[in-house]
Amino acid sequence: MSLPVVITIDGPSGSGKGTVAGLLASHLQWHLLDSGALYRVLALAADKHAIALDDEDALEHLAVCLDVQFVLDSENNSQRILLESVDVTDSIRNETVGAHASQVAALPAVRTGLLRRQQNFRQAPGLIADGRDMGTVVFTDAPLKVFLTAGAEERARRRYLQLKDKGETVTLTSLLEEIRARDERDTNRSIAPLKPADDAIILDSTTMTIEQVLDRILSEVAVRSLAG
Ligand code: DC
Repeated sequence: MSLPVVITIDGPSGSGKGTVAGLLASHLQWHLLDSGALYRVLALAADKHAIALDDEDALEHLAVCLDVQFVLDSENNSQRILLESVDVTDSIRNETVGAHASQVAALPAVRTGLLRRQQNFRQAPGLIADGRDMGTVVFTDAPLKVFLTAGAEERARRRYLQLKDKGETVTLTSLLEEIRARDERDTNRSIAPLKPADDAIILDSTTMTIEQVLDRILSEVAVRSLAG
């Protein structure tokens, strides 16, 4: 029996892939894997259990045993994320957790520890998988792989507006520095670096709206007859 269909959306932070992945999943009524959230939850759990971010053995064990749940909040069609039954949906989104997630994600044993958990999200009728290595490592047989990118300045600007909207005080310069540091670490790590799969469609969203990106991907879905 063939496995349920999966569409992978990889790219750097701020490229809009999280938003596009969420919209696609709800449009197609498919499952959603936000793999970055898994790395973020792991970083938060390490902090909670006082595990150092370079203790690879302890982090691998934590990755395999991680008590995390993704729960659909049907009221506003969004996902709530629970770590050990505590809602961490908002607390995993800050810049410190993001930086720590990028650190733990560079450890090979951590990636192996989370691999099966990510592949288990592949359920009928289909899956939208959002991350850095969805097309290159986790779902190499995906029939549609998208690599969504955007210039670093534009990604910093989007993040700035998002955080300002939430009432957080940040500067554009510091966000740009953080984005560049994270890109550097995610792109140059030895395991599962951020890069497009050979068979990925590369979309540069710098001057595109979310709707344009979504339309472009949906046209690829139609060409490949991926949705029932
Ligand atoms: O997409 P995000 O910003 O929530 O991801 C947080 C960090 O997790 C990111 O800096 C790199 C890492 N990550 C990864 O290495 N592989 C993935 N598939 C997803 C995220």
